[in-house]
Amino acid sequence: MKHLLSTKDLSRDQAIHILDVTEDMAATQQREVKKLPTLRGKTVVNLFFEDSTRTRISFEAAAKRLSADVISFAAKGSSVSKGESLQDTAQTLEAIGADVIVVRHPVSGAPELLARSGWIDASVLNAGDGTHEHPTQALLDAFTLRRRIHGDASRGKGLDGVRVLVVGDILHSRVARSNVWLLSTLGAEVTLVGPPTLMPFGIDAWPVDTSFDLDDALASKPDAVMMLRVQSERMNAAYFPSAREYSTLWGLSAARFGALPETTVVMHPGPMNRGFEIASVAADSPQSTVLEQVSAGVSTRMAALYLTATGADL
Ligand code: NCD
Repeated sequence: MKHLLSTKDLSRDQAIHILDVTEDMAATQQREVKKLPTLRGKTVVNLFFEDSTRTRISFEAAAKRLSADVISFAAKGSSVSKGESLQDTAQTLEAIGADVIVVRHPVSGAPELLARSGWIDASVLNAGDGTHEHPTQALLDAFTLRRRIHGDASRGKGLDGVRVLVVGDILHSRVARSNVWLLSTLGAEVTLVGPPTLMPFGIDAWPVDTSFDLDDALASKPDAVMMLRVQSERMNAAYFPSAREYSTLWGLSAARFGALPETTVVMHPGPMNRGFEIASVAADSPQSTVLEQVSAGVSTRMAALYLTATGADL
């Protein structure tokens, strides 16, 4: 695999293979010495044009655990603020010796452009582009859910028949898009739930059901509920009357959480707005995988870096 740009173009076998390599990586992270020599001599550059905590730090941890040299680049404080183009920035990084460029960018399609333009030979990993895709997030979510459902017998398995609600600001969420493609490829049944104003155009063509009523959707006793952050930074208009109304209608409140079966897995990619889209009692419960998702993020990114940097067959 040369690049990892989206989950939409992964086949079921490819997706399961990445999850299985993630299992291998996760096993190494149980050892006392967590570092592997796999990418010794390779250079990974984290090129982040948007804010990030989890994704940037876990890519950095993943690259270091594989013994790569890591350079972290934040667009703020760089020559990007002097007007340097993506092409010049990427070519500069490659001239410095980058073998893999991990890119987060506010423009949908920027990583694809970098990968397909011919400007550089390095592998490109999409760490979130605009509202388009966030493939490693969906892979770490699928890994976490597969582990919760199949435990130690996860290897080789998909998520057949697993019913997942994805709730909230679907319109602005690259996490939702990458999850829709990956979860459905793995055989899960996905229902998107949110206010009509936060549902994307063209959703009829997606392999999902939709619902505008959270209580109704929760009454179906889903296997997992994935809450999304309301992405105010991407909103240039009012999509709902007030924060209070959003929270009342679309939040996973303590009461809604309390009515769920104890087996329903509660997920959130972070960063969470506690008390807004998710109550603390839900986020901090044993049903919640919030921190498992973060840990899985390191193993998932180790797998993605390994598979791309070595050009391994998928
Ligand atoms: C998400 C993102 O940046 O797309 N966060 C993440 O990577 N864990 C979701 C969000 O910002 O709400």
